[in-house]
Amino acid sequence: MTALPLLDVQGLSVSLHDGRETRHIVDDLSLQVGEGEILGLVGESGSGKTVACRALMRLLPEALSISARRITLAGDELASLGVADFARVRGRGIGMIFQNPASHLDPVMRIGAQIAETIRFARGASRREAKAEAIELLRQVGIPDPARRAEAFTHEFSGGMRQRAMIAVALASNPKLLIADEPTTALDVTVQAQILRLLTELRDRRGLSIIFVTHDLGVVSQLCDRIAVLYAGRMCEIGPKRAILGRPRHPYAAGLIACQPAAGATLTRLRTIEGQPPSLHAMPSGCRFNPRCPNAQGDCRSVQPPLDPVEPGHLAACFHQVGTTPRLGCAA
Ligand SMILES: Nc1ncnc2c1ncn2[C@@H]1O[C@H](COP(=O)(O)OP(=O)(O)O)[C@@H](O)[C@H]1O
Ligand SMILES: [Mg+2]
Repeated sequence: MTALPLLDVQGLSVSLHDGRETRHIVDDLSLQVGEGEILGLVGESGSGKTVACRALMRLLPEALSISARRITLAGDELASLGVADFARVRGRGIGMIFQNPASHLDPVMRIGAQIAETIRFARGASRREAKAEAIELLRQVGIPDPARRAEAFTHEFSGGMRQRAMIAVALASNPKLLIADEPTTALDVTVQAQILRLLTELRDRRGLSIIFVTHDLGVVSQLCDRIAVLYAGRMCEIGPKRAILGRPRHPYAAGLIACQPAAGATLTRLRTIEGQPPSLHAMPSGCRFNPRCPNAQGDCRSVQPPLDPVEPGHLAACFHQVGTTPRLGCAA
């Protein structure tokens, strides 16, 4: 990663206030994304991946409150911006794509016009320029015969084509960072591979940085440069892909990797980590993974382990990491 990250998030929390209780759906999350880098954000369903991403875009319902020590994009502080200023930055700085393009594309507006409108809003281009750029963007995202397809409506597109169209809409404001929340989960494997290839090309061609959210480690190992592992709203481990996949330190990260079916394997039964993630209403104290953790000891149940470096650029939040000798209890 470059010395100055494109995105620097420090201490992001998203809280739900219900009655007298405050529950942290995302708790003290810090991460960086370098220019032209693809960061994979992984974790089981319900671990807070979507909420964390939507917090970065300020796309959360009012019931959820966001706080952060710092969020900077290309050096610009975002956390302190007012709503109007943030809306401008969001347009130019960060784009987002989702699992279900149909619910984020306008069903009654032609695809080309949706893209052109964003271009006009973001850059004040003329109608004619915006239309030409929209067609060029459709071409760049791999839509065949883009001039004709620009006149089509969303329902006339296949799932893969819709996903490409949504990527084009997200790119229309020329963002530096694209947040992709499980964009290939609903697609069959062939189309999924095409979309992953497209994202890699966009990174290579435009220097786009990407946060790619998925629960699929196979996708992460193919696409990403670095990996961040979330569990129950907290970061367990973050580091270079090879380090995380090759030698995970947090027992949860290790468990996820061990449960991933090998490529081409035909498993009759998928292995899973024993137990269930905690409910938001009954978070264990200490490390949130401790009730399921094979390495858990007394300290894990009372103290939240800090996210500390295990080597440069590779951090883990665990007192009793995988492959280390369990610490002995202190003799009096
Ligand atoms: N609007 C909301 N109000 C209350 N809880 C929410 C809301 N949105 C999400 N959550 C809770 O936040 C947690 C994380 O959800 P989410 O970010 O969607 O997980 P993931 O994307 O990792 O599957 C879940 O326990 C979910 O029920
Ligand atoms: Mg999600």
